[in-house]
Amino acid sequence: MRAIQILCEEHRALRDVLDSLELLLECQRNDDRLEADLALDALEWFERFADGLHQDREEFGLFPRLEQRAPERTRSVTSSLMRWHAHERERLEQMRAQIVGAAYGDAWSRDCFTAAARAYIEIQREHADIEDAQLLPLAREVLTPEDDEIILAEYERIERRHLRAGEPTPAERANRLIASAAQRVLERQPSLFPVPAKDSRRGRGKPSEQCDASRARGATRVGVPKQVGTAERPGFRAPRNP
Ligand SMILES: [Fe+2]
Ligand SMILES: [Fe+2]
Repeated sequence: MRAIQILCEEHRALRDVLDSLELLLECQRNDDRLEADLALDALEWFERFADGLHQDREEFGLFPRLEQRAPERTRSVTSSLMRWHAHERERLEQMRAQIVGAAYGDAWSRDCFTAAARAYIEIQREHADIEDAQLLPLAREVLTPEDDEIILAEYERIERRHLRAGEPTPAERANRLIASAAQRVLERQPSLFPVPAKDSRRGRGKPSEQCDASRARGATRVGVPKQVGTAERPGFRAPRNP
């Protein structure tokens, strides 16, 4: 089902960009210097293509159709995932608020950015794992080929809102960013390479409709409140202002 496959592929690109941002954060450990231009590229990618395009596909394309097709099985799942989306948006706003100060070398801004970015990486990975392991299999089970057509038509409308004509695709931008981050970190801290094989290039290769559900690290059940409530999420604590 193409509508589901697109979300799978976007989860793979998302994981790769998360890995790259994490690498940039690791790279500053020895000298407290953030590669701010690349961190900003990653932030903009998340804002436009994870928070923007991808989550709109889910919220305005997939979720409404799921709720129509099997309301009793899907509503609690989709409402929980919407709260995750809101939670991730908050982390992006925290990162955005600090990126300029971090770029100018302000230590407090850099530490706040790093803390928010680490929290974002953690919840986005968990979110993608849960969707691959639970949401998308559920969608495959209940949706029909006709639903697929309807969702794809909605995706096209969403793409027109988010993508500019002629610009590189989100996947192309992701690949460019991943390569730049790898090159920069290799120049600064070769000891950080090779990136552990565990996750770094996971999901690459021939696209498949089968998502990375096997990777779902203990992806617990969607809808369990502790996964989605802000208060219960891994805490974001900004460093204290000196
Ligand atoms: Fe989502
Ligand atoms: Fe997703």
